[in-house]
Order: sequence, then C-alpha cells, then structure tokens
Amino acid sequence: MATATAPAQAGQSSVEIGAARTPPPPMPTIFLSGSANPNLRDAVELALGSRFIASTCEMFPDGEVLARLDESVRGFEVVVLQPTSPPVNDHLMELLAIVDACRRAAATRIVAVVPYFGYARSDRRDGRRTAIMGRLVADLMERAGIDHVITIDVHTPALEGFFRVPMDNLTAVPLLADALRPRVLPNAVIVAPDVGATRLANRYAMLLGLPVAVCQKQRVSGTEVSVKRIIGDVSGRPCVIIDDMISTGGTVVECLRALREAGASANAIVTATHAVLVPGAMGKLSAAGVEELIVTDSIPLTPETESSTPRATVVSVAPLIATAIRRLLSGGSLRELY
Ligand code: R5P
Repeated sequence: MATATAPAQAGQSSVEIGAARTPPPPMPTIFLSGSANPNLRDAVELALGSRFIASTCEMFPDGEVLARLDESVRGFEVVVLQPTSPPVNDHLMELLAIVDACRRAAATRIVAVVPYFGYARSDRRDGRRTAIMGRLVADLMERAGIDHVITIDVHTPALEGFFRVPMDNLTAVPLLADALRPRVLPNAVIVAPDVGATRLANRYAMLLGLPVAVCQKQRVSGTEVSVKRIIGDVSGRPCVIIDDMISTGGTVVECLRALREAGASANAIVTATHAVLVPGAMGKLSAAGVEELIVTDSIPLTPETESSTPRATVVSVAPLIATAIRRLLSGGSLRELY
C-alpha cells in the first residue's frame, strides 16, 4: 500500500499515513474471573502464562451478590473472564459486580471476555410487547464500566450494534471443524437448523468442503420448534447439524425428525459452540439418535451431561481466548480470529 506523509506543522514531527504503526507499549494487566467456568479460567491461565488474581464473589442467603478484589488493580488494565451461562442472571450479576469493583478501584481499562453471552437471542421485539434483553444487558455492562467486550460465536451479530464500546466476536468454527474433519463422511451435508444459522453453516461447509442444507424452523415456544421445510439435498446423506448453541435440544431433535423424513441417513453428528444443555437436553438428544456431540468448553458441562450419551467431545476455546487477549493487549488485530 502506498504511504503518504502529512505535511509537518511547526513544532510537530511528520506523520506517515498508511505506514505500519508501532503498537503502544502494553499496559500492565491484571486477569480476573468470575465463578462461571473455573476450568476454562485455568486453561486460559495456562495458555496465557499469566496468573489470574484472586477475587471473591459472595452470594448472600437472600441471593444478593458482592464482589471483592483481593489485590489492587489501581492503574492496571483488567481482563475479566466470565461466560454468562446458566444460572444466567447470577453469572451476569457477578460479572457486573466484579467490573464495578474494578472501576471503583481505579482500573484504567476493563475488558470483559464473555465466551457465552446469555440473552443474545433476545435481539428484537418481533412485533410483540417484549423486552429486548440483549440490548438491556449491553447497556448494563457498559454502565458498569466495561470498555471492550470479547465474545465467541454470539447468537446474533446485532449485539455489536447494541454496544457503543468495541466488541469483538471471535469464532470457534475452525476449532470445531478440525474436530469434525476425521468424523465426517465425504457425502455428508452440513445442516443449518434455521435460516439464522446459514452463515455459520457456510463457514463449516467451506472449511470441510461439504454442501449445505437449511431447515426452515419456526419457534412455537421456549421448548418447542417446528421444521416444515428443508432447502438443499439431504437424501441418503449423513448430516452434520451445526448451531451456535444447544439449550433444550428441541431444535436438534426437530431437525433430525425433518431430515429423516426427507430421506437423510439416520446417523447424525451435532456440533455447537455453546453447550448450554439444560437438564433433560442430553436425554432428548440421545433418544433422537444423536451419535456424536462436539462442543466447546465455553460453558462447563455438568457431571450429569458428562456421564450421559451421546458422549460429548469438548474442544477448548482457551487458546483462542489467549491469542485474542495477547493481540488486544499488544495493539494487534483480532480480525483473523473472527
Ligand atoms: C436459535 O436460533 C439458536 O441458534 C438455537 O438453535 C437454539 O437456541 C437452540 O435452543 P434449543 O436447543 O432449546 O432448541
């Protein structure tokens, strides 16, 4: 790229426009985490080679939360790791409390790493008199003092527009595609369980060199969905259902029913970035004949989930988070982690 030099003003040195900029010297950084995912915190700590400092999040008998930092953060940049996974409200409130404690303790900048962002599905009113919880949560986070948000495969890209501060949405798709590669047959098809997941499906399809089919899903209620039509050829093919998250398992089960009705082969692999997997979800997946489940560790698996079938293969997002943090702190670009 051509570079241009701006004319020097009296008393100023010239500035090269377009030339590679020297990143600012890294700010001293402190790493903190809430209680939502201690295993991920340990894995990120290992991948970063930096210690997370101790903090205490106390929950009182009446359900109120109090965060206390066990070390000074004055003058430091702080990175807080906390997925807002179930119990969503408790983990969200904990994150807000930690951030508030950091801001009041004079941290210079607060970066929130929220690998799973709860409430992201609530991004519009859909013509009904509902709240837009994704927007409300973004407002609360900013108000608490978060200066930068990092998420992974967030449900809706609209979330970025809900924040005025920068938000980087990383993707775990290449990591999950690597885990899928040895498991998928050459005639397999990547299935988006709804139109909203088409972009995600295209990314998997590109990485794995497979075609895409899309289910036309309608949500009947929080636990019930219906698939009326499938776009794309699934006849006789093994299916790989991909999604950003699995919560009740209802979407996957209904897609599988529709896929089999359309002549897809009975065996199916399911992969999703976020294993929300509320109680009962694994039972549904197993009863529907899901053979393999591949997820990330953005949300910890419960002991019940870990011991049930289909056995979940867990891919860690810790190296992805560590790379993003390293680049962010050194003024580098996160673009290729999207
Ligand atoms: C919805 O659009 C999401 O991408 C997921 O498909 C959905 O939230 C999964 O939820 P469940 O497992 O409860 O059907």
